[in-house]
Amino acid sequence: MDLYINGSNRNKNCYTVLKDLKEEKDKLIALSEKNIQYCLGCCRCIDNLENYCVIKDDMQEIYNDMLEADKIIIASPVYMNHITGILKNVIDRLNPFANHGNLKGKKIFLITIGQMSEEENEEIASSIEKYFESISEFMEFKFHFVKNLTSGDIEEVDNVKMAYENYDEIIEEMKNRIETL
Ligand SMILES: Cc1cc2nc3c(=O)[nH]c(=O)nc-3n(C[C@H](O)[C@H](O)[C@H](O)COP(=O)(O)O)c2cc1C
Repeated sequence: MDLYINGSNRNKNCYTVLKDLKEEKDKLIALSEKNIQYCLGCCRCIDNLENYCVIKDDMQEIYNDMLEADKIIIASPVYMNHITGILKNVIDRLNPFANHGNLKGKKIFLITIGQMSEEENEEIASSIEKYFESISEFMEFKFHFVKNLTSGDIEEVDNVKMAYENYDEIIEEMKNRIETL
Protein backbone atom coordinates (compact mmCIF):
# COMPACT_ATOMS: atom_id res chain seq x y z
CA MET A 1 0.00 0.00 0.00
CA ASP A 2 1.23 3.48 -0.87
CA LEU A 3 -0.07 6.40 1.20
CA TYR A 4 -1.21 9.56 -0.60
CA ILE A 5 -1.58 12.67 1.58
CA ASN A 6 -3.46 15.74 0.45
CA GLY A 7 -1.84 18.67 2.28
CA SER A 8 -4.42 21.19 1.10
CA ASN A 9 -7.12 22.84 3.18
CA ARG A 10 -9.64 21.60 0.61
CA ASN A 11 -10.12 18.70 -1.79
CA LYS A 12 -9.40 20.31 -5.14
CA ASN A 13 -6.22 20.46 -7.25
CA CYS A 14 -3.87 18.44 -5.02
CA TYR A 15 -6.64 15.94 -4.34
CA THR A 16 -7.38 15.55 -8.08
CA VAL A 17 -3.73 14.87 -8.89
CA LEU A 18 -3.35 12.36 -6.07
CA LYS A 19 -6.57 10.59 -7.04
CA ASP A 20 -5.30 10.28 -10.60
CA LEU A 21 -1.93 8.95 -9.43
CA LYS A 22 -3.12 6.40 -6.91
CA GLU A 23 -4.07 2.80 -7.56
CA GLU A 24 -6.91 0.91 -5.94
CA LYS A 25 -4.65 -0.74 -3.35
CA ASP A 26 -3.40 2.65 -2.13
CA LYS A 27 -4.83 4.93 0.56
CA LEU A 28 -5.59 8.62 0.07
CA ILE A 29 -6.12 10.86 3.07
CA ALA A 30 -7.07 14.53 3.18
CA LEU A 31 -5.53 16.43 6.10
CA SER A 32 -8.41 18.93 6.02
CA GLU A 33 -10.76 16.12 7.08
CA LYS A 34 -8.64 15.14 10.06
CA ASN A 35 -8.50 16.38 13.60
CA ILE A 36 -4.81 17.10 14.08
CA GLN A 37 -3.81 19.27 17.00
CA TYR A 38 -0.60 21.27 17.23
CA CYS A 39 2.50 19.75 18.78
CA LEU A 40 2.54 20.70 22.48
CA GLY A 41 6.31 20.95 22.53
CA CYS A 42 6.34 18.67 25.59
CA CYS A 43 8.92 16.32 24.03
CA ARG A 44 7.38 13.34 25.83
CA CYS A 45 7.70 11.57 22.46
CA ILE A 46 11.42 11.26 23.20
CA ASP A 47 10.37 8.63 25.80
CA ASN A 48 9.21 6.26 23.00
CA LEU A 49 5.56 6.36 24.05
CA GLU A 50 2.94 3.81 23.12
CA ASN A 51 0.99 5.41 20.23
CA TYR A 52 3.96 7.76 19.75
CA CYS A 53 2.45 11.02 21.12
CA VAL A 54 0.59 12.14 24.25
CA ILE A 55 -2.10 13.78 22.09
CA LYS A 56 -4.79 11.33 21.08
CA ASP A 57 -6.16 12.57 17.77
CA ASP A 58 -6.11 11.55 14.11
CA MET A 59 -2.30 11.57 14.04
CA GLN A 60 -2.53 8.08 15.56
CA GLU A 61 -4.06 6.84 12.29
CA ILE A 62 -1.50 8.77 10.24
CA TYR A 63 1.44 7.37 12.23
CA ASN A 64 0.19 3.84 11.58
CA ASP A 65 -0.55 4.51 7.91
CA MET A 66 2.91 5.99 7.40
CA LEU A 67 4.61 3.01 9.01
CA GLU A 68 2.57 0.57 6.91
CA ALA A 69 3.05 2.39 3.61
CA ASP A 70 5.67 1.30 1.10
CA LYS A 71 5.84 4.85 -0.23
CA ILE A 72 4.37 8.15 0.93
CA ILE A 73 3.28 10.65 -1.70
CA ILE A 74 2.41 14.12 -0.46
CA ALA A 75 0.84 16.95 -2.46
CA SER A 76 0.80 20.49 -1.10
CA PRO A 77 -0.47 23.72 -2.55
CA VAL A 78 2.01 26.57 -2.38
CA TYR A 79 0.73 28.88 0.38
CA MET A 80 2.67 32.13 0.81
CA ASN A 81 5.67 30.57 -0.90
CA HIS A 82 5.69 27.51 1.32
CA ILE A 83 3.71 24.36 2.13
CA THR A 84 0.38 24.70 3.94
CA GLY A 85 0.11 25.15 7.69
CA ILE A 86 -1.77 21.88 8.14
CA LEU A 87 1.00 19.94 6.41
CA LYS A 88 3.70 21.71 8.45
CA ASN A 89 1.71 20.81 11.55
CA VAL A 90 1.77 17.12 10.57
CA ILE A 91 5.53 17.35 10.01
CA ASP A 92 5.96 18.86 13.50
CA ARG A 93 3.92 15.96 14.90
CA LEU A 94 6.46 13.55 13.34
CA ASN A 95 8.89 14.41 16.13
CA PRO A 96 8.45 10.92 17.70
CA PHE A 97 9.54 9.38 14.39
CA ALA A 98 12.43 11.85 14.18
CA ASN A 99 13.58 10.75 17.63
CA HIS A 100 13.30 7.02 17.03
CA GLY A 101 14.14 6.63 13.34
CA ASN A 102 10.76 5.12 12.42
CA LEU A 103 10.87 6.60 8.91
CA LYS A 104 14.42 5.49 8.21
CA GLY A 105 14.69 4.41 4.56
CA LYS A 106 11.02 5.25 3.81
CA LYS A 107 10.51 6.76 0.36
CA ILE A 108 8.70 10.09 0.56
CA PHE A 109 7.66 12.01 -2.55
CA LEU A 110 6.42 15.58 -2.85
CA ILE A 111 4.34 17.40 -5.46
CA THR A 112 3.63 21.12 -5.14
CA ILE A 113 0.86 23.03 -6.90
CA GLY A 114 0.75 26.79 -7.08
CA GLN A 115 -1.41 29.29 -8.84
CA MET A 116 1.67 30.87 -10.41
CA SER A 117 3.34 29.26 -13.42
CA GLU A 118 5.89 26.48 -13.05
CA GLU A 119 8.61 28.93 -14.08
CA GLU A 120 7.48 31.63 -11.63
CA ASN A 121 7.44 29.08 -8.81
CA GLU A 122 10.71 27.38 -9.74
CA GLU A 123 12.75 29.00 -6.95
CA ILE A 124 9.98 28.52 -4.40
CA ALA A 125 9.63 24.83 -5.34
CA SER A 126 13.37 24.48 -5.00
CA SER A 127 13.30 26.08 -1.52
CA ILE A 128 10.50 23.67 -0.47
CA GLU A 129 12.56 20.79 -1.88
CA LYS A 130 15.56 21.97 0.19
CA TYR A 131 13.37 22.15 3.31
CA PHE A 132 12.27 18.51 2.86
CA GLU A 133 15.84 17.44 2.10
CA SER A 134 17.02 19.10 5.31
CA ILE A 135 14.50 17.22 7.46
CA SER A 136 15.17 13.97 5.56
CA GLU A 137 18.77 14.23 6.75
CA PHE A 138 17.92 13.75 10.42
CA MET A 139 14.73 11.72 9.92
CA GLU A 140 16.61 9.49 7.47
CA PHE A 141 13.78 9.08 4.96
CA LYS A 142 14.55 9.02 1.24
CA PHE A 143 13.12 12.17 -0.26
CA HIS A 144 12.25 12.81 -3.91
CA PHE A 145 10.71 15.98 -5.27
CA VAL A 146 8.37 14.87 -8.08
CA LYS A 147 7.01 18.01 -9.73
CA ASN A 148 6.10 21.66 -9.32
CA LEU A 149 2.70 22.05 -11.02
CA THR A 150 0.55 25.07 -11.74
CA SER A 151 -3.21 25.25 -11.35
CA GLY A 152 -3.41 28.49 -13.30
CA ASP A 153 -5.09 31.74 -12.41
CA ILE A 154 -7.39 31.31 -9.41
CA GLU A 155 -10.26 33.37 -10.90
CA GLU A 156 -10.23 31.88 -14.37
CA VAL A 157 -8.99 28.33 -14.07
CA ASP A 158 -8.20 26.95 -10.63
CA ASN A 159 -8.43 23.52 -12.17
CA VAL A 160 -5.14 21.71 -12.61
CA LYS A 161 -6.67 19.45 -15.27
CA MET A 162 -7.51 22.47 -17.41
CA ALA A 163 -4.15 24.14 -16.80
CA TYR A 164 -2.39 21.44 -18.86
CA GLU A 165 -3.28 20.28 -22.36
CA ASN A 166 -1.22 17.15 -21.71
CA TYR A 167 -2.50 16.52 -18.18
CA ASP A 168 -2.80 12.71 -18.66
CA GLU A 169 0.77 12.53 -19.95
CA ILE A 170 2.03 14.48 -16.93
CA ILE A 171 0.22 12.09 -14.59
CA GLU A 172 1.80 9.10 -16.40
CA GLU A 173 5.27 10.71 -16.14
CA MET A 174 4.81 11.33 -12.42
CA LYS A 175 3.53 7.76 -11.92
CA ASN A 176 6.62 6.38 -13.66
CA ARG A 177 8.91 8.58 -11.60
CA ILE A 178 7.29 7.44 -8.35
CA GLU A 179 7.38 3.78 -9.44
CA THR A 180 10.99 3.79 -10.55
CA LEU A 181 12.65 5.93 -7.86
C1 LIG B 1 -3.65 31.32 1.57
C2 LIG B 1 -3.20 31.02 0.17
C3 LIG B 1 -1.92 31.34 -0.21
C4 LIG B 1 -1.47 31.07 -1.48
N1 LIG B 1 -0.19 31.40 -1.83
C5 LIG B 1 0.28 31.08 -3.06
C6 LIG B 1 1.64 31.36 -3.41
O1 LIG B 1 2.42 31.90 -2.62
N2 LIG B 1 2.05 31.00 -4.66
C7 LIG B 1 1.22 30.39 -5.57
O2 LIG B 1 1.67 30.06 -6.68
N3 LIG B 1 -0.07 30.10 -5.26
C8 LIG B 1 -0.56 30.44 -4.03
N4 LIG B 1 -1.85 30.12 -3.69
C9 LIG B 1 -2.70 29.42 -4.67
C10 LIG B 1 -2.73 27.91 -4.44
O3 LIG B 1 -1.44 27.37 -4.28
C11 LIG B 1 -3.38 27.23 -5.65
O4 LIG B 1 -4.68 27.74 -5.84
C12 LIG B 1 -3.42 25.72 -5.52
O5 LIG B 1 -3.80 25.17 -6.75
C13 LIG B 1 -4.42 25.27 -4.46
O6 LIG B 1 -4.39 23.87 -4.38
P1 LIG B 1 -5.68 23.04 -3.92
O7 LIG B 1 -6.71 23.25 -5.01
O8 LIG B 1 -5.25 21.63 -3.81
O9 LIG B 1 -6.14 23.63 -2.63
C14 LIG B 1 -2.34 30.43 -2.42
C15 LIG B 1 -3.64 30.10 -2.02
C16 LIG B 1 -4.07 30.40 -0.75
C17 LIG B 1 -5.48 30.01 -0.34
